[in-house]
Amino acid sequence: MSTRSFTRIASRLSIPRSQSRTTIPFVRTYVTPTSTKSGAAALAQQPQHHDEVDAMPAPVRTAAQWADFGRDHVSHGLGRLRDHVVVKGEGLDLYTAEGKKLLDFTAGIGVTNLGHCHPTVSQAAAAQINTLVHLQCSIAFHAPYLQLIERLLPIMPHPSLDQFFFWNSGSEANEAAIKVARKATGRQNIIVFQGAYHGRTMGSGAMTRSKPIYTQGSGPLMPGVFASAYPYWHSLGVNPSTSEEELVRLAKHQLDLVLRQQTNPSDVAAIFIEPVQGEGGYVPCPPAFMHHLREVCDKHGIVLVVDEVQTGFFRTGKYFAIDHISPSFRPDIMVFAKGVANGFPISGIVSNKELMGALDVGSMGGTYAGNAVACAAGIAAQDVYASGEIETNVEARSEQLYVTLNRLATSPKTRHLIADVRGVGLMAAVEFRSAADDLTHEGLPEGTTIPKNIGKRVQDYCLDKDLLVLTTSCFDTIRFIPALVVSEEQMSRAMKIVTEAVEKVALEG
Ligand SMILES: Cc1ncc(COP(=O)(O)O)c(C=O)c1O
Repeated sequence: MSTRSFTRIASRLSIPRSQSRTTIPFVRTYVTPTSTKSGAAALAQQPQHHDEVDAMPAPVRTAAQWADFGRDHVSHGLGRLRDHVVVKGEGLDLYTAEGKKLLDFTAGIGVTNLGHCHPTVSQAAAAQINTLVHLQCSIAFHAPYLQLIERLLPIMPHPSLDQFFFWNSGSEANEAAIKVARKATGRQNIIVFQGAYHGRTMGSGAMTRSKPIYTQGSGPLMPGVFASAYPYWHSLGVNPSTSEEELVRLAKHQLDLVLRQQTNPSDVAAIFIEPVQGEGGYVPCPPAFMHHLREVCDKHGIVLVVDEVQTGFFRTGKYFAIDHISPSFRPDIMVFAKGVANGFPISGIVSNKELMGALDVGSMGGTYAGNAVACAAGIAAQDVYASGEIETNVEARSEQLYVTLNRLATSPKTRHLIADVRGVGLMAAVEFRSAADDLTHEGLPEGTTIPKNIGKRVQDYCLDKDLLVLTTSCFDTIRFIPALVVSEEQMSRAMKIVTEAVEKVALEG
């Protein structure tokens, strides 16, 4: 890396003048150049080229000191897996300031589907930065905004979905969907499903039912939200081996009760559903239940909103998870984000002319909504998705992944730990048994002791081996969401670590 780029990184990590200490008028801290591809940058050495940097002395911070600084100044409300200071990402590799190389099986929670810093996407963003960075979307159209729509139109699950609005985050996009549904129907209530995650804002947070932590102590949230059971054995209080048909029958019954006992259908603006629940535990929704929702919505004039924020852009092996349901399943509104621009902040909703046409001009907007650089990144990401290589890789690598997970679930060494293996494409999870949860004991020989906190211990082992994996849901579940460009070698390396981790917990008890 040249000294010039070294200086650039340094200034990205510099401390604002407002935080200067009295003895040092301008405090600036530096990162040493990442000299090798390994990216093992050590923090905090003084630069050697005095002509290129500030004359003021710069204090030194080690990686550990930066982590201390983070613990001191980053909001207490933000949790972290580990206090690594990450300085570089490439494909599935993350490099820390201490020189560690981490294998990332989180993909920024399903965002960097094409891997960190995919060259096509990063180059497109870099080019856009020198052309037009920002044009507020209520001032005029900008070219990348329109071109991104042009790219997305042909991949929409249903031809009626041709009206777009871009925002920044998944939560915001869900807020937009609430607004469209309420305005178009003139109704207030919303039905969601137990285990749902739609965001953390006051509207999207009110629709989130995966864990109380996201909104606890911060109410009142948006009123008028009712939750029904998701077709998932936990949600319905039945065994994991319950047939899909039975799960659908029970979930339909629960929804029927909500509509008869809690809110009249004529008061319901929308039903929101994730086609594969994310924070709820990576639970795919059976197609028969999605078809049922379509029928219920058509019968009562309710807007069906499909939240594809985590499932979109080949995460499940197809462009969208609802593409698995039937060739042209029709949501009224589809919400997307994450993989659309591989890490650049952009989200959106797409709907039909009738619903979007109900909005008052000026009611939608946002300073950064549909930012030009994010749109340019999104266009480039669509080029990569369109090549077909991602789809092929998801198929091959997910097969490899499920072979390992299913082996763990059936092996005499580890099967007493595992309640369920599930997922679609590269959105996969293992749910562990829990002594406190009878539903997870199905098939367990009498008298078998279930180890405590299995998921957390498996995760800790993986993190110690520099494999980043996440847990999910309020149940003891580990999820696997690598970038969709994961190689055979990376998958087998990760699965070896996961196998060792589960076997170790089984051995220790
Ligand atoms: C299904 C789903 N909806 C909404 C969101 C919220 O998105 P954001 O974190 O960008 O607000 C998420 C985030 O994980 C999600 O998985």
